[in-house]
Amino acid sequence: MCGIIGCVSEKDCCGALYDGLKRLEYRGYDSAGIAVLGEKLSVCKKKGGVSALSCFFAQGNTGIGHTRWATHGAPSDTNAHPHRAGKIVLVHNGIAENFSALKAELEGAGECFYSETDTEVIAKLISRAYRGDLLSAVKEGLSRVEGSYAVAVIAEDRPGELVAAKYKSPLVAGKGAAGLFVCSDIPALAGAADFIARAEDKDFIRIGGGRIEFFDENLKPVSRTFFRPQKELFALSVAGGGYFMRSEIAEIPQALGRTLCALGQADFAPCARALRAAKRLFAVACGTAYHSALVFADIAEASLGIPVICHTAGEFRYRPPVIGEGDVLIAVSQSGETADTLEAVRLAAERGAYVIAVTNIGSSSIAALADFCLVMRAGAEVAVAATKSYNCQLLCLYYLAAQCLFFKEEKYPDWFSSLNLLPAAAEEAFSRFSEIDGLADRLKGARAMYFLGRGLDLCTAKEGALKVKEIARVFAEGYPAGELKHGSLALAEEGFPVVCVSTSGRLAKKSENALAEVRSRGGYCALFSQYEEVLSESCADFKCLLPALPEALMPAVSVIPLQYFAYKMCLERGYDPDKPRNLAKSVTVE
Ligand code: AGP
Repeated sequence: MCGIIGCVSEKDCCGALYDGLKRLEYRGYDSAGIAVLGEKLSVCKKKGGVSALSCFFAQGNTGIGHTRWATHGAPSDTNAHPHRAGKIVLVHNGIAENFSALKAELEGAGECFYSETDTEVIAKLISRAYRGDLLSAVKEGLSRVEGSYAVAVIAEDRPGELVAAKYKSPLVAGKGAAGLFVCSDIPALAGAADFIARAEDKDFIRIGGGRIEFFDENLKPVSRTFFRPQKELFALSVAGGGYFMRSEIAEIPQALGRTLCALGQADFAPCARALRAAKRLFAVACGTAYHSALVFADIAEASLGIPVICHTAGEFRYRPPVIGEGDVLIAVSQSGETADTLEAVRLAAERGAYVIAVTNIGSSSIAALADFCLVMRAGAEVAVAATKSYNCQLLCLYYLAAQCLFFKEEKYPDWFSSLNLLPAAAEEAFSRFSEIDGLADRLKGARAMYFLGRGLDLCTAKEGALKVKEIARVFAEGYPAGELKHGSLALAEEGFPVVCVSTSGRLAKKSENALAEVRSRGGYCALFSQYEEVLSESCADFKCLLPALPEALMPAVSVIPLQYFAYKMCLERGYDPDKPRNLAKSVTVE
């Protein structure tokens, strides 16, 4: 979604806002804008990435900035934030779901609009309530808005003051040498703030007079705890090869090592009773996180012998909910701010389920909502395409499944002791990348492709397909290898590419059947397995030997060549892997 930042500093804030926006850019890059208030108000907003603002500078110690992922109104200079109304200047992340009715009401009252955005309606509402008290005006204006918001607001006649507000979209406050800040997320304040406090839903924040104050929905002062953030969130990866995604793939071994360390020190006692008593588990997530949840469901069912019901969060929310007391819901979210996943958690909690969150951001909304939270230590993940966070999610979920078995039967799965092999196995997977370069070059012209797998390999196939769709813009589907012959084989033709992941010795021959069906129709087959004999006996055109681990743990490393393959396909096709078309890193709207 969008990214917002606000600053009141003792010095010019334009540079701090720009730097923050550069770090927020992965949340949306359709357009960007900055407003700086000094002796006068200066605003620069443009379609395109944050770099379109690089020539802008204005003196002033108060300012706001925005990176946009368009929801209402095409990406354009006019629709870019900040939006103004009267003396009010505002940036917004979220959706005003009743903006059409509000806009019609305001137009009926004689207001004119210059943009197509819902945000301009919010600016108008606040402007009409503004009589010199910015905090009250923001509260009054937002009282009409239904939906989600994180806003930062300044008034042209009140330099040195900024008001922010939060409901269902993420917002933190930060303080450091560079000034006092509000922002959509923590990594964007790297180098600017040393201490962070997370705003709660319906909080208001006022920055002014050298202070950050929090207020509840009735503007009663409340206190929010400032903390030093997880240090790895501030250590932004250097964009290796010019792209964060490449660096973040390279960081997988270290990220797994950090996560292993943290898991070894984690105290699982608080969730022991709920896990021990659970007769079934639920797992919900979105996108890549959903694929890690699928792996968890397979692993947990196999080791615990109880059903694990896994849905995308968007589906879970609108099914007739069967979850209730005694159930445990595991919610996986890198950002901890994905709207669908948060709403699924709220629904499960309302039904009396025990909620366990697995997230990369310990101060995120999902961590606050959950009964128990496992924080993966993947470090800041800037590229929109999730990579290292997926591997770290899997590690956390393996650990959770193992702990659940221990609580139930006082024993660990036989693969548990091999978890500490994951960092080295991930490192070993890198040695296959030069072969993958050739595969990406061979398939760069593909218009569509299948990723096949069975069991755990199907989860990996789905993740590989998502990566290719997301950044290489090639239609791809992760598909059960055994299903191909039931219809989808009709697509097989000369040169049609199929990638197969085959890490189960028991199922290898079955997966090979699917490849033979494709090959016999001229398709191009690539096979990934850790078994040399599986590769040598295969008809595949391209064969990649994966690092060997217990089969249960293979998803944590078999995905790495596919992550890199998608990255290379993207480059071969001339796209930016860090900023895939139409997407944003954290989808904080439904
Ligand atoms: C994955 O590459 C995408 N960025 C997307 O599918 C993402 O995994 C999904 O939006 C969930 O995000 P979360 O883990 O922050 O909840």
